[in-house]
Amino acid sequence: MAPVFVRDGERVVEPVEAMPGVNRYSVDTVSDYVGRLVDEGVRSVLLFGIPGSKDESGSEAYSSHGVVSRAIEELKSHFHSLVVAADVCLCEYTSQGHCGVLDGGGVSNEMTLPLLAKAALQYARAGADIVCPSAMMDGQVRAIRKALDGSSYEERLVMGYSAKYASSFYGPFREAAGSAPAFGDRKGYQMSPANSREAMREIDSDVREGADIVMVKPALAYLDVLSKARERYDLPLAAYSVSGEYSMIKAAAAKGWLDERGAAMEVATSIRRAGADIIITYFAEQLAVWLREGR
Ligand code: PBG
Repeated sequence: MAPVFVRDGERVVEPVEAMPGVNRYSVDTVSDYVGRLVDEGVRSVLLFGIPGSKDESGSEAYSSHGVVSRAIEELKSHFHSLVVAADVCLCEYTSQGHCGVLDGGGVSNEMTLPLLAKAALQYARAGADIVCPSAMMDGQVRAIRKALDGSSYEERLVMGYSAKYASSFYGPFREAAGSAPAFGDRKGYQMSPANSREAMREIDSDVREGADIVMVKPALAYLDVLSKARERYDLPLAAYSVSGEYSMIKAAAAKGWLDERGAAMEVATSIRRAGADIIITYFAEQLAVWLREGR
């Protein structure tokens, strides 16, 4: 599954400096790019939006004119067998850069849930096959599942970012999505890297809330967590090989310090070996090409 950044504007293909080979596309250029992915054999995409304007309640996340909704409509009209997933979070849309809305000094779980449900419903209406809550608010999967089931979208899937760690490997993504928090960090709602049993509890609660697919994120530094989750759950299991995992291979390869193809294939193989059914990776297009060439 290839992550794809969609931004506002027209005729834009804007490189992400910290992620060589990754671009932000406006809605009118995204089909050309995704068409190439499809031709190479990538069967699914995960959309992230970069809105033209941000506000305190992240309203572009759930507006029907939002970039992600428009991109979903565009992609579903062009590529009928492509699976389109959409990230559901407020951090790219809020002026303060947190994953939810603020009440007093902190992020309010209760006030954020209905907004996440609203965004997920809007993406389903636009045609998304899978919605992926990544805000790490308690009860987000249940709130979204309920909203979808109540509006005859029972067949759409919820992929929970179930075990999401507070990781330094998200660095390049925050440049890509312009979503670094204006103050503080996300440690209040993401997990400590030192903890692995907590990850199982987080996955348990997503399963109870109705998740159709569960996820471990990041992937490479958390293969033990992935493998434990594989043994414990029979739901489809996704692993998100995040921006920093991509950029460190790209940067080292650019310096001639390691072989890009070999390293990227080895990492993807290890994630598969640990038990992932779905690998979300910025190497998706290259991996598809390499796998076809056979190595
Ligand atoms: C939150 C979100 C993040 C990523 C995916 N969804 C950033 C964060 O939690 O700060 C990171 C993905 C990556 O690094 O590739 N909407």
